[in-house]
Amino acid sequence: MGNVHVLDHPLIQHKLSYIRDKNTGTKEFRELVDEVAMLMAFEITRDLPLEETTIETPVTTMKTKVLAGKKIGLIPILRAGLGMTDGMVKLIPAAKVGHVGLYRDPETLKPVEYYIKLPSDIHERELIVIDPMLATGGSASDAIESLKKRGAKNIRLMCLIGAPEGVEKIKNEHPDVDIYLAALDEKLDEHAYIVPGLGDAGDRLFGTK
Ligand code: PRP
Ligand code: URA
Repeated sequence: MGNVHVLDHPLIQHKLSYIRDKNTGTKEFRELVDEVAMLMAFEITRDLPLEETTIETPVTTMKTKVLAGKKIGLIPILRAGLGMTDGMVKLIPAAKVGHVGLYRDPETLKPVEYYIKLPSDIHERELIVIDPMLATGGSASDAIESLKKRGAKNIRLMCLIGAPEGVEKIKNEHPDVDIYLAALDEKLDEHAYIVPGLGDAGDRLFGTK
């Protein structure tokens, strides 16, 4: 069964409070989301395998460790997932980036896929699906399904805020997927917005509405 990891690092929690604040404007919101994504990347990559190598320091020869060449793929869900992508790429610069375009139909609340473009070797990459919000879980679950249909085997999901409903959906439909959140909130409201949440992540990131 996939695990849920709430990354309770004080820096993440501090920045998330300002992200949630409705008085935080677009510029600051974007910067904070970028910074939190970077901090989350640090935590989510904690278990990447290392291998031994030998180097020469100016003083002597030493055995040391480098990443064992595990290939990473970042998969932001458009459009709000884009807001977290640069922060991740700063820490994992060799990662390839695929995109899944999904929007949630405001009437049915069901995700509609409108775009997909992925690295050709997703089957051999450790994929991190990125979206700030895990509300009903419909978007993330469909994105993961789409990746699996195209051969993806190892998938993690990284979101800023999750609702219990979304977490349950992913656990039921994709028990192999670990979920990484900065916060697990209380519930969804009648429009399937996360409470207390942060509002509409895409609109706040891009200054739309
Ligand atoms: C938001 C968010 C998620 C989705 C979460 O996207 O970024 O993708 O809703 O909701 P769910 O868990 O109930 O599916 P939205 O549909 O608003 O599109 P956008 O990113 O283009 O603004
Ligand atoms: N999408 C958002 O952007 N925010 C929510 O609270 C739920 C879905």
